[in-house]
Amino acid sequence: MAQIFHPSTNVLSKLSIVAVALGVPALGTGAYLFSQTYGAEMYIPKPQPIPFSHRHHVGDDGIDCRFCHSSVDKGPFAGMPSTHTCMTCHSQIWSDSPELEALRSSFRSGKPIQWARVHDLPDFVYFDHSIHVKKGVSCVSCHGRVDERPLAMKEQDLTMGWCIRCHRHPEKNIRPKEYVFNLAWKPNEEKGETQNELGEKLLETNKIMNASQLTNCSICHR
Ligand code: HEC
Ligand code: HEC
Ligand code: HEC
Ligand code: HEC
Ligand code: HEC
Repeated sequence: MAQIFHPSTNVLSKLSIVAVALGVPALGTGAYLFSQTYGAEMYIPKPQPIPFSHRHHVGDDGIDCRFCHSSVDKGPFAGMPSTHTCMTCHSQIWSDSPELEALRSSFRSGKPIQWARVHDLPDFVYFDHSIHVKKGVSCVSCHGRVDERPLAMKEQDLTMGWCIRCHRHPEKNIRPKEYVFNLAWKPNEEKGETQNELGEKLLETNKIMNASQLTNCSICHR
């Protein structure tokens, strides 16, 4: 049977029904309740099966994000490290540490470690890491200074408003591609480099879509 609507209209029409049903007066209350539930989860690390520290592994030891989140520049999901990835070092280093018992038992049993999810968008939103990373948006713009913290935590509320604010002005968050994984990178202010000027240039060099394309509903709700 011929498809009358593009599949994405489905999601969108459902979304607009929700928006209409809630009505404008409900928006204020909604935003309040929302900030109470989702907002409250910010800056609070979740209990994890192993007290893994980004500060030690990334900040002190200098391990690249892609060693553990190996699909972050290749596809939608960043990917989580397998037990085997940890064991490349921990079969030798700290191999008797009680903190690593859960790691060794996962290695023996073959059962993957269940890391608690810190970031989790609703299913009706489409997100893709590689698109952002390949165009010069750094992890730090969305996840903060992961390399300075022990456990990862949510540093942004991940609301639609947050996505749109950057999609309207991507120049504020674009850097040369080679610095995407360097969370400490800043424009060289001593040489008079400013983020806005650099960003404007990079919009062209990195071929970034324009704001009206980037705020079109169907790119995130497809
Ligand atoms: C040695 C392995 C390793 C390296 C290197 C590493 N990570 Fe992680 N990452 C983990 C593990 C394990 C977790 C799960 C524990 C946690 O959430 O803190 C995690 C979780 C995260 C999360 C939260 C995931 C979620 O559930 O939403 C983010 C964001 C993150 N890492 C970003 C980074 C960034 C950015 C870098 C590079 C600057 C990096 N990681 C480097 C192992 C690593
Ligand atoms: C490239 C080598 C390497 C890899 C890969 C690695 N570690 Fe480590 N890990 C270390 C070193 C070195 C230390 C010693 C701590 C330090 O840097 O002071 C350590 C320490 C730890 C500790 C002790 C607490 C702390 O942070 O000081 C835990 C727990 C740990 N690692 C868990 C993990 C887990 C889980 C993974 C896989 C997601 C992992 N490590 C992957 C090198 C590694
Ligand atoms: C434009 C914002 C943005 C950038 C840039 C970004 N992330 Fe994420 N990250 C997110 C969002 C949003 C989620 C939640 C995705 C979901 O729930 O589907 C997420 C989730 C994750 C997760 C959990 C696993 C997953 O894929 O859902 C890890 C790990 C992670 N990011 C690591 C990184 C690393 C490493 C970088 C830099 C190389 C990075 N992120 C860059 C926004 C971003
Ligand atoms: C810090 C800036 C920033 C944030 C925050 C951000 N984005 Fe983006 N996003 C970009 C840039 C820049 C591009 C353009 C890439 C290009 O032109 O190819 C993009 C592109 C995209 C695309 C691809 C469009 C396409 O058709 O290729 C999707 C989908 C997307 N973003 C979803 C999201 C979602 C969902 C969120 C919030 C959870 C988000 N983004 C947050 C900067 C950001
Ligand atoms: C850059 C990505 C992006 C674009 C563009 C975008 N949205 Fe969203 N939208 C999101 C995210 C992320 C959420 C989930 C936010 C949350 O959980 O608060 C969302 C949630 C929604 C919701 C659910 C209600 C709510 O606020 O939680 C509706 C309705 C919606 N969007 C409609 C739209 C419409 C209509 C457009 C076009 C004018 C649009 N969106 C464009 C990312 C986007």
